[in-house]
Amino acid sequence: MSKVFYKSDAIVLYQGDCLEILTSLPERSVDMIFADPPYNLSDGGITCHAGRMVSVDKGDWDKSKGFEVDHDFAVAWLRACQRVLKDDGTIWVSGTMHKIYSVGFAMQQLGYRLLNEICWFKPNASPNLSCRYFTHSHETLIWAAKSEKSKHKFNYELMKQIAGGRQMRSLWMDINVEDAPQDIWSIGTPTKEEKKYGKHPTQKPIALLERIILASTDIGDTILDPFTGSSTTGVAAIRHGRLFIGIDIDEHFLELSVRRLKEEEDNLRTKPQLTLKSV
Ligand SMILES: C[S@@+](CC[C@H](N)C(=O)[O-])C[C@H]1O[C@@H](n2cnc3c(N)ncnc32)[C@H](O)[C@@H]1O
Repeated sequence: MSKVFYKSDAIVLYQGDCLEILTSLPERSVDMIFADPPYNLSDGGITCHAGRMVSVDKGDWDKSKGFEVDHDFAVAWLRACQRVLKDDGTIWVSGTMHKIYSVGFAMQQLGYRLLNEICWFKPNASPNLSCRYFTHSHETLIWAAKSEKSKHKFNYELMKQIAGGRQMRSLWMDINVEDAPQDIWSIGTPTKEEKKYGKHPTQKPIALLERIILASTDIGDTILDPFTGSSTTGVAAIRHGRLFIGIDIDEHFLELSVRRLKEEEDNLRTKPQLTLKSV
């Protein structure tokens, strides 16, 4: 059962299963999709956070149903996303090695055209407790066009300007050093300010979404996030004059989304000029 959870001039948030809601949206109506799907890593294991041993479990929504069922779900939501994308639209998906190969394979099965993979390096990643593996320190983002025929949007000159006059590279470094080259994506994990309305266990940094949105959409475009969580995508979309559709199954995450999105909308009302805050 799906429902409109929040609506304003520029935003619609739906509560429910993304497959059901995507199916109810009009075909070819969205310019860009950002998806941060469950990585299915909640298996009762432990990890290290802020020097303490903690459970890796994020919630029932992150539990695996077995590889084949998980992959079938990836195919299903990627197919539903492809239907709502405009012919020249693009999709970005983030994930770790546990999920991203399934997503990439599903995209190829469905006829998406892979455009880039971005490596987002995290120098402050949790240490590896077992000492039997390298420390997992990055996530991968796949950027793909709806089909082989798509003439995808890429704001090349803006990216070059942000990159200090050089071509923007496909490497994201999550490190704030003064002399970090601008052509490498160099921005920190979510700040305390970004979590002041509450925390989502897998919240993405706003700056990551700002870069993605500026690279692949224009003012007035419609952006959709089928696993919106705390709506980091929506905050970045509103900040840059785009329209936003968010979907999540969990009402508590949507309540957090509304708090964040209302503040962003209020900021725009008091400061109508669009600014590139953290790019
Ligand atoms: C990895 S988190 C996304 C976090 C988000 N990027 C942020 O910055 O806050 C995945 C989200 O997908 C939601 N979810 C899981 N299964 C879903 C489904 N079938 N339909 C809609 N949402 C779902 C979860 O409730 C969770 O908030």
